[in-house]
Amino acid sequence: MRTHQCGELNTEQLGTTVDICGWVHRRRDHGGVIFIDLRDRAGIVQIVVDPDTIDTFATAEQVRSEYVLKVSGIVRSRPDGTINLAMYSGEIELLAQNIEVLNESETPPFPVESDIEVNEELRLRYRYIDLRRTVMQEKMKVRRDVTRVLRNFLDDHGFFEIETPYLTKATPEGARDYIVPSRTHQNTFFALPQSPQLYKQILMVAGMDRYYQVVRCFRDEDLRADRQPEFTQLDIETSFMTENDIMDIMEEMIRQLFATVINIDLGAQFPRMTYQEAISRFGIDRPDLRIPLELVDIAEEMQSVDFKVFSGPANDPEGRVVAMRVPTGGELSRKDIDDLTKYVSIYGAKGLAYIKVNDLTTGVEGLQSPIVKYASAEIWANVLVKTGAQAGDLIFFGADKATIVNEAMGALRVKLGHDLKLLEGDWKPVWIIDFPMFAWDEKAQRFSAIHHPFTAPSCSTEELVANPGAALSRAYDLVLNGTEVGGGSIRINRSAMQKTVFDILGIKEDEAREKFGFLLDALKYGAPPHGGLAFGLDRLVMLMTGSSSIRDVIAFPKTQSAACPLVNAPAVVSDEQLKELGIRLIKPAAK
Ligand code: AMO
Ligand code: AMP
Repeated sequence: MRTHQCGELNTEQLGTTVDICGWVHRRRDHGGVIFIDLRDRAGIVQIVVDPDTIDTFATAEQVRSEYVLKVSGIVRSRPDGTINLAMYSGEIELLAQNIEVLNESETPPFPVESDIEVNEELRLRYRYIDLRRTVMQEKMKVRRDVTRVLRNFLDDHGFFEIETPYLTKATPEGARDYIVPSRTHQNTFFALPQSPQLYKQILMVAGMDRYYQVVRCFRDEDLRADRQPEFTQLDIETSFMTENDIMDIMEEMIRQLFATVINIDLGAQFPRMTYQEAISRFGIDRPDLRIPLELVDIAEEMQSVDFKVFSGPANDPEGRVVAMRVPTGGELSRKDIDDLTKYVSIYGAKGLAYIKVNDLTTGVEGLQSPIVKYASAEIWANVLVKTGAQAGDLIFFGADKATIVNEAMGALRVKLGHDLKLLEGDWKPVWIIDFPMFAWDEKAQRFSAIHHPFTAPSCSTEELVANPGAALSRAYDLVLNGTEVGGGSIRINRSAMQKTVFDILGIKEDEAREKFGFLLDALKYGAPPHGGLAFGLDRLVMLMTGSSSIRDVIAFPKTQSAACPLVNAPAVVSDEQLKELGIRLIKPAAK
């Protein structure tokens, strides 16, 4: 049908006759001459229609935005003064000899332009129009490039791509399952996988050595900008590799990915930071290292001050008191501080004490704050030294249960970093290591797994049983600019250890058998030491394309309420289908 793509034409084709196909991006009537910008995936080319070509001109007069055309014509240079070097085809134009309308189009619901302000529901409802926009086409191209580079790397390093089932049994990754009723086994359900975790481990037991899969995962959880109910992982598992071997090779892959696709050098070895250090310095286990703000513990200084808000948590083993120095924060107004106080209250903080450092040479005289009166000049002098405060800075304080302080001050740190434009550098990857095995769930009065229940501890079974709360795991997360882009671990490869972990998690023996019997069995037949990780592919592409949400890098994403406005899913099913499945609805769907 065509000899070239629109966006492919340039001076190389000068003087030749070409056939191209595409969508009418714009049509302009210039007193007797018609210009049509024709667009396809490769780009845009300008077509000139001369009134001398009577039939062609008559057709051109009728075309509207988004009509699909086939145009035959001669490539010629643009006249001086009309050259547009910002366009690949900007030095040439196509003098139309023949135009065929391949299809008409109604007026699109919004213009096919890169910078539009359109409600997202509408964009998703007409996703085929939305995806025609150059920005979206570019994002899809980056996504294609990303999977290609990753696949090439893994193929070159001896990984097999192996598919695992979607109709399966629950895999716990901390979310609710999407379930699918079985017709052939009535009253039973498949679960869509939250990840291929158990299959990939079984592939290692099966001797597959190195596996990967670009795979969809399904999780029914609260949605955010970086979470979708179905999303794509680059899932990886290896045998006979230590956590350092795995981090090294994965890091090399990610470095190569950024260099090849977006020409970014992520630098030499990525730093590795313990979970403990991340929480202590940044309040969060996925720190954005571009932000040069840190939490500094001052519980020691605050133990005996005359201010319950600080002395309480300072003397509570579960409490935490921190100071965070904000360079040039002295410029923040009363209203700014009030707004920030409201912001941290979302995370449970009961207030946001601060000190403005006006002058460092005049002792407490130089400090401006409602809390200066509560402690001695000597104490404040220590706090100033500890935080490294300079004149013109502002110091914020957080005091409460450690979990609240970490969340509130961690979030405040990120907000201030962005609001005050303090970010240093463009790309800051970091591996977080030495996670705790378990977190104590106060409400349920039991331990839950920090990674997943198949992660190996770094201690012996005896040590694990003696003090589960203190045990560390052999897990690692890759964090890039404050986003967790991947995570994994060395797995448990012995049945007895796996049983112990289930036991600590409060999973009874019969429940463990029922849910994970197949794994416990497999571990008994020569399961090799193995481990791996999974990257959130959507998140990687989001970061690489500078998108603010993973919805922008997924061709057909779900809305915030986990629905698809394009096909109108989820939808009701017929009574007949329900009957076949043996399902009766509690509340029959409205007719
Ligand atoms: P995890 O649950 O940490 O680990 O997931 C791995 C990576 O997947 C991405 N991710 C998501 N992306 C978009 N939407 C979501 N709802 C979502 N949930 C997770 C994140 C995350 O780092 N089986 C283990 C991996 C392993 O141990 O090998 C797992 O799934 O970028
Ligand atoms: P008050 O003397 O009670 O008005 O409090 C003095 C300052 O302490 C105010 O700026 C409050 O915002 C702040 N504040 C109160 N509770 C906390 C807390 N838990 N952590 C940090 N600052 C707090």
